Amino acid sequence: MNIASSSPKKIVILISGSGSNLQAFIDAVCDHSLPATIAVVISNKPSVKGLERAAQARIPTAVLDHKNFQDRDSFDSALITLIDSYKPDAVILAGFMRILGAEFVNHYLGKLFNIHPSLLPRHPGLHTHQRAIDAQDKEHGATVHFVVPELDAGPIIIQARVPVLEDDDADTLAKRVLIEEHQIYPLAIKWFCENRLALTNDGAILDGKLLPASGVPFKLS
Ligand code: GRF
Repeated sequence: MNIASSSPKKIVILISGSGSNLQAFIDAVCDHSLPATIAVVISNKPSVKGLERAAQARIPTAVLDHKNFQDRDSFDSALITLIDSYKPDAVILAGFMRILGAEFVNHYLGKLFNIHPSLLPRHPGLHTHQRAIDAQDKEHGATVHFVVPELDAGPIIIQARVPVLEDDDADTLAKRVLIEEHQIYPLAIKWFCENRLALTNDGAILDGKLLPASGVPFKLS
């Protein structure tokens, strides 16, 4: 094994809020289950809890407030400049609540990841937990996927499923899903950091094999 392939990958994490997924990454880096260093945490909103979590872990932070930009393109291009100054191997959207344009997505294609709180392709977009309840879904969950220009549509890497219980409301269901998010997101990025996961024209490949459309099914042991 050469030094380059065994050195930890540099990741950049983008957030907009609480940062509980960010915390899962911080914990995974700290306990050495994720062979990566978090170069910077960037938020498009000032004063969010995720920035506190990063500071607590002594990770550099930056705020790029989308409200200070005239349009989506100028925000995206400033974000690219900021991210590229860290030369990351992977860019992780972790509760980042801004739609990114095609130019941004294509700039990081193959190393840009998102987690979405539903069993994609079911319920893309917002308010996924309430929509799963309204649709009387028996199962709900979360999906980690490569990001492509079409919203919530990139090749799926891993999905975790949870039951929808009769007395669930959007909050109780969200909490159940979030527990799974914290498991599957660092795991998917671990595969990427170990050079086992890649995006190809045919879809997501793990250990040389094309993943099925619904990705790897995740089971808690
Ligand atoms: C998560 O459900 C994430 O999937 C979504 O935003 C929620 C909050 O995430 N897009 P976090 O606590 O800020 O990581």
